[in-house]
Amino acid sequence: MTEVQAFPDGLEGVVAAHTVLSEVDGQAGRLIIRGRSLDDLAGRARFEDLVALLFDGFFADLPADLTQALGQARAEVFAEAAYLDDRLAARDPVEAVRALTARLADGDDLPTALRLLAAPAVFTPAVVRAQAGKAPVAPDPSLPHAADILRMLRDAAPAQAEIDGLDAYLVTVSDHGLNASTFAARVVASTRAGLTSAVLAGISALKGPLHGGAPGPVIEMLDGIGSPQNARPWIEAALARGERLMGFGHRIYRVRDPRADALKGPVRALAAAGAGQAGRVEFAEAVEAAALAILKDHKPDRPLDTNVEFYTALLLEALAFPPSAFTCVFAMGRTAGWLAHAREQLAGGRLIRPQSVYVGPEPRQAA
Ligand code: COA
Repeated sequence: MTEVQAFPDGLEGVVAAHTVLSEVDGQAGRLIIRGRSLDDLAGRARFEDLVALLFDGFFADLPADLTQALGQARAEVFAEAAYLDDRLAARDPVEAVRALTARLADGDDLPTALRLLAAPAVFTPAVVRAQAGKAPVAPDPSLPHAADILRMLRDAAPAQAEIDGLDAYLVTVSDHGLNASTFAARVVASTRAGLTSAVLAGISALKGPLHGGAPGPVIEMLDGIGSPQNARPWIEAALARGERLMGFGHRIYRVRDPRADALKGPVRALAAAGAGQAGRVEFAEAVEAAALAILKDHKPDRPLDTNVEFYTALLLEALAFPPSAFTCVFAMGRTAGWLAHAREQLAGGRLIRPQSVYVGPEPRQAA
């Protein structure tokens, strides 16, 4: 029998890939994406710039400006929105978006990758509109990606502050080391199944509330708390029931998640531009302060700080995405990272095939 090594629960601390794509420094609270610090990117780069940064060297014939190519890809995948029937539209939006994405052909080339980037951007507005009894709005391939997503959602031109807010969000969540969905995408890519299969694995992993499914429940928490005075009793009661506070804690960060700060500026800018409910940000900040103080007493040995999902919830709420679709918006950004990781895995990696330790019973001897 091959010698096996003991492994920590949840593979915590295990290194399973070498990557040039991003580094998450959990002690310093720093995120680097292809040699650029997140502080330098969020609020400055558009989503198209981030895709170009992540895809550079992983796809041949990458155009310098991806705006037109992504617009064309949105127009192509829109044909699949015709398969959004009532049964599919009644499902959790991430399941509906995943099902429509599964209609796209597998492949390893740039056109396949661009269609996969376009898929959640086009299908999410279509699903949200279908759930409200409205027809889908066709993409406008001439628009930048973030502007067109908001236009398809509302059938009206968004304000510049809203486009900037969505761009900042998509850039901030585009890649983040070997998180659960990226690992799932790399495992599938390592089997040479194709980029569509890898992205579908990513979406499936992202769906869970311990990963990309947290921001919807953050809104439920804020609505449940209702007023700043109720923050402490509500949070204490939730923890006493053994619940986790959504939007707090992280496997890698032992300090504040830098993505929370990258989103705080755009959240405030949106509020200043009049988007979302008046006073919502101040209320959320009061809840955050109470949660951090209580978590410190609750788990003195485990630093639990604000993660990306807390401000994600506020930002996507201000952009008028329904909480049930927040994970789909996360997928719009993270698909860029999944695709780059899949190509990196294909370029150099072997089949990912770890071992397990059998702890079940030995076969019975025949009498
Ligand atoms: N609220 C309350 N307690 C929390 C907590 C939270 N958000 N996050 C972790 N803890 C507690 C755990 O219950 C655990 O306590 P225990 O030792 O008594 O069981 C302890 O802190 C250590 O947590 P652990 O499960 O080892 O952390 P992890 O690295 O596996 O989990 C998360 C990381 C993100 C899954 C976890 O912090 C979490 O569930 N957060 C809420 C969901 C969320 O916001 N997800 C988005 C992540 S970007």
